Amino acid sequence: MSHPLFELKNVSFLYGKRNALRPLSLTLREGERVALLGANGCGKTTLLRLLAGLIFPTLGEIHYFGKPLSRDTLDDSSFRSFFRAQVGIAFQHPEAQLFCPTVEEEIAFGPRQMGLGQEEVRERLIDLEEISRLESLLERYPGELSGGEQRRVVMAAVLAVAPSVLLLDEPTAALDPRSRAELKRIFASLAKSGKTLITATHELTGLERDYDRALVFSEDHLLVWDGSAGEIPLEVLRENNLLDLS
Ligand SMILES: Nc1ncnc2c1ncn2[C@@H]1O[C@H](COP(=O)(O)OP(=O)(O)OP(=O)(O)O)[C@@H](O)[C@H]1O
Ligand SMILES: [Mg+2]
Repeated sequence: MSHPLFELKNVSFLYGKRNALRPLSLTLREGERVALLGANGCGKTTLLRLLAGLIFPTLGEIHYFGKPLSRDTLDDSSFRSFFRAQVGIAFQHPEAQLFCPTVEEEIAFGPRQMGLGQEEVRERLIDLEEISRLESLLERYPGELSGGEQRRVVMAAVLAVAPSVLLLDEPTAALDPRSRAELKRIFASLAKSGKTLITATHELTGLERDYDRALVFSEDHLLVWDGSAGEIPLEVLRENNLLDLS
């Protein structure tokens, strides 16, 4: 079995008095493709934000590669640079992640933060040509792009850092079929090269092909099922409002 990456021990999270995630213990391993499933508001985004070290457990502990992931450890600049270079997150709402005056600067921001030189940054941009039609956007202001274009820019910015763990919050939502297929191909090749992909999604089509493992959360924020993505029992899907019954 591969190396444990994230270990969660009794992790719960509340926004003020509102429960977002109830006590959760689990191990996520290197190289896994994990789908986070559950109805709106069950806690998927909250879990991704916890794994990204953007928020911290109200109770319980998260370890990354055997090291506690906390405000204190992330205050340490060497752990922070190591963690931020390893773990990339693409937000559910891409506009919240875009802040540079041009797409090109947006994509170059992460690699520059890592201290890469101009030539290396340019190489990373060239590497991302597989996200096609990005080139025509490079000079544009990210805030004025369409939702789907913004999502592709965010993905390019995350991939430019070359993280080994990708936390993806509904990465293909609102994308046209061509862009969705393109991103799925990229994710498949990243997984093949050993990257870990943890993805919140509402898409059940192709689940067993795109993921190894699925975690299902109930509307009251509990992990109710954890197993092989192709083997989720129908009653688990039905009870947790994951089926389209229209
Ligand atoms: N910033 C916040 N302040 C207060 N409550 C919040 C905040 N963000 C989320 N919540 C609440 O926490 C719970 C979990 O939200 P979360 O965004 O993690 O759900 P989700 O599973 O990602 O849902 P969706 O499928 O709609 O994206 C919800 O009840 C939500 O209303
Ligand atoms: Mg969400």
